[in-house]
Amino acid sequence: MSTLTVAIICGGPSSEHDVSCVSGGGVLKGLDTESFTPILIGITKAGKWVALDENYPLAIKNKVMPTIEDNGTSVQLSTGGLVINGNFVQIDCIFPVLHGEFGEDGKIQQLLEDAHIPYVGSGVKASADAMDKAKSKELFVAAGMKVAPGVVLTRHEPVPDAKRFTYPVFVKPSSGGSSRGTHKVKAADHLSAAIEDAFLYDDKVLIETAIKGREIECAVLERDGTSYASVLGEIVVDPRFEFYDFEAKYLDDATTVKIPAEISEADTQSIQIAAIKAFDAIGCSGLARCDFFYTDDNQIIMNEINTMPGFTGTSVYPKLWDATGVSYTQLISGLIESALNK
Ligand SMILES: Nc1ncnc2c1ncn2[C@@H]1O[C@H](COP(=O)(O)OP(=O)(O)O)[C@@H](O)[C@H]1O
Ligand SMILES: [Mg+2]
Repeated sequence: MSTLTVAIICGGPSSEHDVSCVSGGGVLKGLDTESFTPILIGITKAGKWVALDENYPLAIKNKVMPTIEDNGTSVQLSTGGLVINGNFVQIDCIFPVLHGEFGEDGKIQQLLEDAHIPYVGSGVKASADAMDKAKSKELFVAAGMKVAPGVVLTRHEPVPDAKRFTYPVFVKPSSGGSSRGTHKVKAADHLSAAIEDAFLYDDKVLIETAIKGREIECAVLERDGTSYASVLGEIVVDPRFEFYDFEAKYLDDATTVKIPAEISEADTQSIQIAAIKAFDAIGCSGLARCDFFYTDDNQIIMNEINTMPGFTGTSVYPKLWDATGVSYTQLISGLIESALNK
């Protein structure tokens, strides 16, 4: 039986390079090789595309995260395929397992559009809008969803008077990830330092009311125009952390995900409906993980959407689908098939 050629791309210039490598290794392992032949492509932190053989180490080993090294190979995108070391290889579909800058913000999506190669995940505009928290909040509000109240600052505006806010507030870069540059500010005299740090990551910074609530995530999968929502997961962060910050995300044992989240049937359904609403508000395709706050008085507040969420076999997104009855391999096949049918 002939198979379709799928290029898995991982790594990339963003701060989530290493996580992307682990996700890419996961997709390679999980791929149904009776239907698909993989080609593994890495992008170095400096942005160079390289060809990797299937045994390239992409797992965490002795707590050391994998990275993509420049191995001297050359890879260029071309119409309908890739030119690898000077030879054209026809590609049926690309799975860009890339998080953050370049991979999740519409840039690689534009290159893949220009090359006329089908790809997994959201298109250029949805990717860009989802990556920009200020923009996506506007779209969520327009769709009638609740979000954390707040203001958006740009670099050239004067910093607002710290006394006008009720503390604590969260300060975060509009385009960020992994909680980098995100601060819980408990008093006015710490506001300006937090803003300054957040501006290291982006030209736009959000100041938001701190929402008191549980953090609930829902995985959305779109196939041929129909979106499906998974069971819900609750992020349970060890109490030694103030919030779901960078260390809580990546240190072993700092966080667990409770699946399914203990939430009433009715509110579970409301969150699932909200997740699909958020997916549609941004105009996503393929997949997205929708992250909510669920308050003690049962309010559902949309926090953010991730168009290429962590995708290792043990990441939240695949775990939520597994608990819903879709295996990792089925999930990958479904995403590729959906991309091919676009
Ligand atoms: N308005 C808020 N209220 C309460 N917690 C927040 C708020 N904004 C962010 N956080 C905390 O910071 C974490 C990271 O913020 P988030 O907006 O999800 O950005 P990232 O893209 O870095 O994940 C959240 O998971 C949550 O723990
Ligand atoms: Mg988040």
